[in-house]
Amino acid sequence: MTKRFPEGFYWGASTAAHQVEGNNIHSDFWLMEHLEGSIFQEPSGDAVDHYRLYREDIALMAKLGLNSYRFSFEWSRIEPEEGQFNQEAIDHYRDVLKACQEFNIMPIVTLHHFTSPQWLIRAGGWESEETPQRFARYCEHVMQQLGDAIPYVCTINEANISIGIAKIIKRHQAQETAQVGVNTGSMERMQQYYAALGKAFGLPPQEIHSFLGARSEKGLSIIFKAHEAARETIRRVSPQTKVGITLSLYDIQSLPGGEALAAQALQEEFLQFLPYLEGDDFFGVQNYTRYVYGPDGYIPPAADAEKTQMGNEFYPQGLESVIRYAYEHVKKPIIVTENGIATANDERRIAYIDQALQGVQACAADGIPVQGYMHWSLMDNFEWQLGFSKTFGLIAVDRSTQTRTPKPSAYHYGSIAKNNALL
Ligand code: BGC
Repeated sequence: MTKRFPEGFYWGASTAAHQVEGNNIHSDFWLMEHLEGSIFQEPSGDAVDHYRLYREDIALMAKLGLNSYRFSFEWSRIEPEEGQFNQEAIDHYRDVLKACQEFNIMPIVTLHHFTSPQWLIRAGGWESEETPQRFARYCEHVMQQLGDAIPYVCTINEANISIGIAKIIKRHQAQETAQVGVNTGSMERMQQYYAALGKAFGLPPQEIHSFLGARSEKGLSIIFKAHEAARETIRRVSPQTKVGITLSLYDIQSLPGGEALAAQALQEEFLQFLPYLEGDDFFGVQNYTRYVYGPDGYIPPAADAEKTQMGNEFYPQGLESVIRYAYEHVKKPIIVTENGIATANDERRIAYIDQALQGVQACAADGIPVQGYMHWSLMDNFEWQLGFSKTFGLIAVDRSTQTRTPKPSAYHYGSIAKNNALL
């Protein structure tokens, strides 16, 4: 029997401004990338020049058969100095939204995807009690100008990410370079880097609170309060826009004796935030792999398990469990806002997509209101500290010419989207 998806299902792909646009010179990451001794493998530079080539990219998505696009607005472009809004940036994003409309692509806009304006960090960043109100002011400006063209908004991408990062760093403390998305470096190198960072921001290093840095309990609640403040503002200025948040969620599994630790991980990474999500319209699920717990804690994947370029276990079936547990708790429409694989072997990407989508389809068939799937990522891009070496894209980009070439997985995924059914 053909496995069909619900009528009107959103088939899309995701990007984030700093990873694709290029030249986000007012963002905190730009500054961190260019420090001497930076822990970034390379700077983002022109990235994949999406700021200039967005129209071509959106047209290509439509041609492939996709009907939606999740991307982010860059706060530091829109508000490069506190309280000073840049009309050119607003006009640019209006053009991006118009291109979506023209090509029948439903936009899902993320208002904060890891990067922040440098001024925000100088003002205390993601540990300052002023940040929720500052974020809401930016959201108000954006939604007043563009809300009419934005059906769905994700306030903050992976608001819980600091918890996952802290765990990864702990697991890889001893290594020079963690192959799991975070470059931990040696102690000495980190100290040098932090000293340079302090100098660049004009602050003691311990007072620099970028979004992906270590987070206190208070800092975590500040992020979620920023979400609530943004939601309230968006409801007021753009009542037709549906508002949600996205969280980074693992398929948390346990072996006998590991149940309590797995339950604790679920509580820390997800359940503790439920009260902040109560007023949302939808929930954004982001999943890449599973974590298994035994009686002594986290159990790394078996030595012979297939791994992605990020060092994660290849585990596309995790998405189904995550959608199921997320829905059980949030009881709201779900959009898969990110799911994907870093690999140089595109056949494995195809296998990953097929298996992940089997799970999505099974959830939909059981009546879970899963409304869309946004593959990470539309194209190869700047994978934060790990630079351009990790290839998550459905579309390859030759950065010397910025030429786009869809991979076989892009055509495969596009055919599923066009049929609204697994092939
Ligand atoms: C982030 C993306 C990132 C992806 C792959 C997610 O945590 O939202 O920005 O590129 O994972 O590592």
